Amino acid sequence: MTTVPNSGRTAAELIARSNRLGADPKNTNYAGGNTSAKGTQTDPVTGQEVELVWVKGSGGDLGTLTESGLAVLRLDRMRALVDVYPGVEREDEMVAALDYCLHGKGGAAPSIDTAMHGLVDAKHVDHLHPDSGIAIATAADGESLTSTIFGDRVVWVPWRRPGFQLGLDIAEIKRKFPQAVGCILGGHGITAWGETSDEAERNSLWIIDTAAAYIAEHSKPEPFGPVLPGYEPLTEDGRRARAAALAATIRGIASADRPMVGHFTDSDVVLDFLSRAEHPRLASLGTSCPDHFLRTKVKPLVLDLPATATIEEQIARLQELAVGYREDYQAYYDRHATPDSPAIRGKDPLIVLVPGVGMFSYGKDKQTARVAGEFYVNAINVMRGAEGLSTYAPIDESEKFRIEYWALEEAKLQRMPKPKPLATRIALVTGAASGIGKATAQRLAAEGACVVIADLSEERAQAAAAEIGAALNLGEDVAIGVAADVSDEAAVQAAVDAAVLAFGGLDLVVNNAGLSLSKSLLDTTVADWDLQHNVMAKGSFLVSKAAAKVLIEQGLGGDIVYISSKNSIFAGPNNIAYSATKADQAHQVRLLAAELGEHGIKVNGINPDGVVAGSGIFAGGWGAQRAAVYGVEEKDLGKFYAQRTILKREVLPEHIANAVFVLVGPDLTHTTGLHVPVDAGVAAAFLR
Ligand SMILES: NC(=O)c1ccc[n+]([C@@H]2O[C@H](COP(=O)([O-])OP(=O)(O)OC[C@H]3O[C@@H](n4cnc5c(N)ncnc54)[C@H](O)[C@@H]3O)[C@@H](O)[C@H]2O)c1
Ligand SMILES: [Zn+2]
Repeated sequence: MTTVPNSGRTAAELIARSNRLGADPKNTNYAGGNTSAKGTQTDPVTGQEVELVWVKGSGGDLGTLTESGLAVLRLDRMRALVDVYPGVEREDEMVAALDYCLHGKGGAAPSIDTAMHGLVDAKHVDHLHPDSGIAIATAADGESLTSTIFGDRVVWVPWRRPGFQLGLDIAEIKRKFPQAVGCILGGHGITAWGETSDEAERNSLWIIDTAAAYIAEHSKPEPFGPVLPGYEPLTEDGRRARAAALAATIRGIASADRPMVGHFTDSDVVLDFLSRAEHPRLASLGTSCPDHFLRTKVKPLVLDLPATATIEEQIARLQELAVGYREDYQAYYDRHATPDSPAIRGKDPLIVLVPGVGMFSYGKDKQTARVAGEFYVNAINVMRGAEGLSTYAPIDESEKFRIEYWALEEAKLQRMPKPKPLATRIALVTGAASGIGKATAQRLAAEGACVVIADLSEERAQAAAAEIGAALNLGEDVAIGVAADVSDEAAVQAAVDAAVLAFGGLDLVVNNAGLSLSKSLLDTTVADWDLQHNVMAKGSFLVSKAAAKVLIEQGLGGDIVYISSKNSIFAGPNNIAYSATKADQAHQVRLLAAELGEHGIKVNGINPDGVVAGSGIFAGGWGAQRAAVYGVEEKDLGKFYAQRTILKREVLPEHIANAVFVLVGPDLTHTTGLHVPVDAGVAAAFLR
């Protein structure tokens, strides 16, 4: 092997190749696979040239890989590991030994696949999880298919758990078969190599495309069997309506051990699979590639009823199947666990398939839930390819257990950062395109919640959501905006459905939408009265009602918060309609706290006052009017109000948001029916 003098170029080339490969989902699943390049650098300690390998570290995605995602190791030391390797039973010890091979600070943490990259004697190595390659890797006669499709250019490697021994096996193949450009790793994926970066990339793509073309040409016409009557997809509207109606129940099932965020997919791939005769058999065989089943669990829960069944029948059957799923998972754990296995991690399904409707997938946050769904789509593609040519034969259940409960996998989970206080919670905040609602949505999202912003204008709601997505660098995985007039029952139901379809369910509702008309009794028209009461009293009743249905079906408790007002108890002139409807909201808090407590749902309220900054209520003319009344400039109105308070502090939207967080956060778990004043102290509005 010759050496590349310019190590900076080696890493840059590797990153460019990785980004190209990772950008196309046909090449590998999200965050799946790893790539490497070897070269030399001057060791600053000795002044000698040393051989190094740059390899994608643990975690991260090839498509977005940057230099900080690379581990850098000394090849002389990695090669020396072969002499101290104690054998396959103790191969895991080599992971710790890799830390002693790092060059300099070593970069990213080396992944379990590092040995394969370091030990194979080729300058550039790609290990990928393409659907087409895994289809060959999981075909019952994968070995003979490999030689039929690729001749002697690609070599079959029987399934082996990733690690040092697999690295040695592949290194041996490369030595024994000099004409080979790569291999199919049974049950798992592919590895390809080259002397230049371009050659490695060409070889990877050749294996992937050749496998795909062979499948396209030789697959039997209906790999998943004929369509089952009654299992055909519903119409798009029908699917979404049915999914929204089932989502709360299914999220409750997926969250029995710990709360989960959900994702819903009704892509053609999913609907076609679920419509066909072989789907129950194939789904029960489970997924095969380690990346796939680590995120999807060994197998999904499949509803065994046609889409023509009623919602009630489907819910009842799902509840029965959930009990069975948990028993089966416990039995799987018990069959394979040894005394030193990590404790069982939760028995609930991560993938729930509903024929005719689609797939629900779950995770600790939206991104994880979405990716679990993507991985199951990868698995469906794998099964279609394998069944098209042969019979789908995933790795043994005992091997899946050895990966799922691998000490190294457990250590990875233990290293995960502690979740944020509102992680997994799904919030709906009304009137959140502006002022207090917007600040509340921002705070809830910053504390880990997924947020649905509902407001009159779709554009403003989506802009507020996009601002949150950009601030947290999570896009629509953290916040979405929907149009909803809270005084319209159908619009409220549509907003709740949108929340449930976007994030799987609902945990937390903030009734914030409102507006203020300050008029004397004689000036208040019936239309004024109706508008104030429709948006606030009726609007929050409608939102609470639609949301409570979801909260009760989920069985995970929840929170409802009302942004009421100081004026709900304070009596002053020129406020009959506004203050009366605020008093109505305040009493809804007490009534619903009393009624919903048996479901673990807490209902509390906040009484703000004098929030001028950021408030649309004040900006819309009312602030100017009030300022004129008090003889101050409009821009000083907030400070003027502050001087009337006990604390002499100006109340800002984020102070209301702070109170919402306290009410729904991890500390006030035993408080319901409470109103919290956030007004900088107004004695006339003290609660008693
Ligand atoms: N600003 C204050 O001093 C103050 C004091 C006490 C209570 N409040 C209450 O706080 C809440 C928020 O007020 P803000 O000051 O942030 O006002 P804001 O005008 O900035 O925000 C209110 C939002 O509610 C939306 N909205 C109005 N009608 C709606 C409807 N029918 N459906 C959906 N959304 C609707 C508006 O479009 C707006 O985006 C209101 O309920 C208000 O009564 C405010
Ligand atoms: Zn792999």
